[in-house]
Amino acid sequence: AAAALLKETKSPAHSDDEDLAPMDWDNLGFGLVPTDYMYVMNCSKDEHFVRGRLNHYGNIELSPCSAVLNYGQGIFEGMKALRREDGRLFLFRPDQNAIRMKMGAERMCMPSPSIDQFIDAVKHTALANNRWIPPPGKGSLYIRSLLLGTGPVLGLAPASEYTFLIYASPVCNYFKEGTAPLNLYVEEEYNRASRGGAGGVKAITNYSPCLKAQARAKSRGFSDVLYLDSVDNKYIEEVSSCNIFIIKDGRILTPATNGTILPGITRKSIIEIARDLGYTVEERSIPVEELMEADEVFCTGTAVVLSSVGSITYRGNRVEYKTGTHSVSKKLLSTFMGIQTGHIEDKKGWMVEI
Ligand code: COI
Repeated sequence: AAAALLKETKSPAHSDDEDLAPMDWDNLGFGLVPTDYMYVMNCSKDEHFVRGRLNHYGNIELSPCSAVLNYGQGIFEGMKALRREDGRLFLFRPDQNAIRMKMGAERMCMPSPSIDQFIDAVKHTALANNRWIPPPGKGSLYIRSLLLGTGPVLGLAPASEYTFLIYASPVCNYFKEGTAPLNLYVEEEYNRASRGGAGGVKAITNYSPCLKAQARAKSRGFSDVLYLDSVDNKYIEEVSSCNIFIIKDGRILTPATNGTILPGITRKSIIEIARDLGYTVEERSIPVEELMEADEVFCTGTAVVLSSVGSITYRGNRVEYKTGTHSVSKKLLSTFMGIQTGHIEDKKGWMVEI
């Protein structure tokens, strides 16, 4: 199907051979490795997206007055394509990203692709970049979709034109720590999101405000920061790029998605996996004191997958958590990975073959 789309759109047909791209697959991190094709679909305000095309990956042209450059009218999604040992290719719950993009688009006054258009576009992009999907066990193809207000606006208003764009890059571990436990710092000066804001959608503007606190924490030797709520500076919210969970006496807790927390797809999946394994999972407000008394802490996200937290530092106090082979988080991770790799039965139909 991807080949047909390429032909239709007059892009030079991609070779059918299954050869992987010439890469050092053993040393993938989480940096951009440009791939062959990107997907582009445009539409005007008050219209629907109709037809997209695969273009060669490359720079795009933007009006200096575009809504995304001037006012940050844009959202994004992250997802992954995986290659299994039998050579089959899969996406993980692409419908969930499609639904979340629609929710975000509504919040940011943008038209959005339909669920089917979104999934179709992701499949085409993944297949067109097949040779960049890492070998089994070496990582995945990270698929980044953007929905941008690309029409010009000078006064604050929704853009007149929108671009839905997907590009992809092979990736492996997100943090420089690799799979080693993270050391997080509880941030008290800056907050990530506030009530009534856009913290609960994947607005592009949610991310660069995290850079300053992140840079400060990194300069002090931490992996990243954990944000607190903006009303009381007391309840844990999320890390710059991922959700947070704590485990205490076998119960699993994570902040409820009340508008300031990103409703992560890995978060949601881990909650389901944990409940299926017989754990009690509570989604509620978690005071920082409860975090400091937890047995285990871990983060979830598409990019970070499930990363164990080895320590948290809050107001100069550092607490350490259980990590490693016998931890609950390792069990959750291996179940999650087992479903993705096909070693554990995918009873819920999360894996979509492409
Ligand atoms: C993801 O996990 O896919 C994200 O969008 C987070 C991003 C900061 C890498």
